[in-house]
Amino acid sequence: MRKKEQLSPYGHFVVFVVAFGGILFGYNTGIISGALVFISPAFQLSTVQEGMVVSLILLGALFGALSAGFFADRIGRKNTLFLTALLFMLGTLIIATADTYSQLLWGRCIGGLALGLVSVVSPLYLGETAPPHYRGRCVSLFQLFIALGILCAYITAVAFAPEQRWRPLFVIGAVPALLQFIAIFLIPETPIFSAASGKYPLAKRTLTQLRLDKAWEADLPKMQHKHKMSLKACFKKNMLYVIAIGALLSIFQQITGINAIIYYTPKIFAVSGISNTLIATLAIGVINTLATVVSLWLMDIAGRRRLLLIGVSGMLISLAVLAWAFLSNSVFIDKIAVACLMVFVASFAISFGPVTWVILSEIFPLKIRGAAIAISLVLNWLSNYALALTFPQLITHLGGGTMFAIFAGIALLALYFVYSMIPETKGKTLEEIETLVNTGKFR
Ligand code: BGC
Repeated sequence: MRKKEQLSPYGHFVVFVVAFGGILFGYNTGIISGALVFISPAFQLSTVQEGMVVSLILLGALFGALSAGFFADRIGRKNTLFLTALLFMLGTLIIATADTYSQLLWGRCIGGLALGLVSVVSPLYLGETAPPHYRGRCVSLFQLFIALGILCAYITAVAFAPEQRWRPLFVIGAVPALLQFIAIFLIPETPIFSAASGKYPLAKRTLTQLRLDKAWEADLPKMQHKHKMSLKACFKKNMLYVIAIGALLSIFQQITGINAIIYYTPKIFAVSGISNTLIATLAIGVINTLATVVSLWLMDIAGRRRLLLIGVSGMLISLAVLAWAFLSNSVFIDKIAVACLMVFVASFAISFGPVTWVILSEIFPLKIRGAAIAISLVLNWLSNYALALTFPQLITHLGGGTMFAIFAGIALLALYFVYSMIPETKGKTLEEIETLVNTGKFR
């Protein structure tokens, strides 16, 4: 049995810097609902233009994810992180100084590109850097920062609401991007990427700096192969199987409805007749963050599969109860809605939220890793975009009951997918997982 390797203090710093990209992800997706209330009258936006301002960042993210595999494999994981922080700063500053509607759109597009890149390269970097027994925790830290970023966005929007000023909301978003940009100078290229590019001494040096012990020496023979990253390899049978797992996981993470709640909580609460939507929305952000802390602790103890099975069951039950409460016109609908949304968000935060990033960072062999994570994330952003665009109309036309019943049906399918296709990867090295995939034993 392999000894549990510890990260050195420097290793912890590196993991922190990279996972911190999640703050940019969460803040930039979460800030718009609060900011729009002031941007819309300032630019006299029509409903269609409002929709464009909200959703363009998701389309940008789709293209960012599409190009991320290329960048991560050609210029390296670290340089792609640099590019990401730069684009985040540029995007937020364009919006903060925008005088016209088209400048707003440009800012959202560039921010979106950064979002797509960070969503691919952060889990990729963390997975390749963390020791096997802590990989789940290290990659989940990215999700914790996403949740914190969303919470910060909610709080900032509330804090600036009385002043009716929206520009500071975006200037604030540039600060973590600048901090991350500076900190990236202090982190190394991932050891796996260095080794795959033939730079073995550098890979060894980096591993010595990142870990407290030397159990990694056993993996060196497997790491010391120059790997040519290849898109063609994606079409081999064993690869198609893991790509299908990554794709379905990414799609289910979105279409079970998390962002219908994250982006539109006030709307859902208003439909349920809750008066203080502000406090209820903040409570959702806090629950999302706290439950992610629990998942961080459990990820390498309970394992990915068990967390997914428990969490997705929780999502299914809360959605089904919510649908029933709406359809039966329950007099307690306001209380039931708050309780169910809390359970739903907490269940997501211990399952699809973090586990998607963890599994995506683990299951793909090195040859296809960059490209395969990018394919999964393109599908993730596409599903996110489709839902963000259609949810307001769907809930208005179908009503809460039917809408949540549909989400419950999708959660049931998701549970079946997890049960039948997701194997446990806890504690295995990436090289061991790669061997299982290549020999068709990853089932
Ligand atoms: C998802 C986001 C979502 C967030 C909520 C992430 O894992 O990719 O779409 O908004 O979790 O915490």
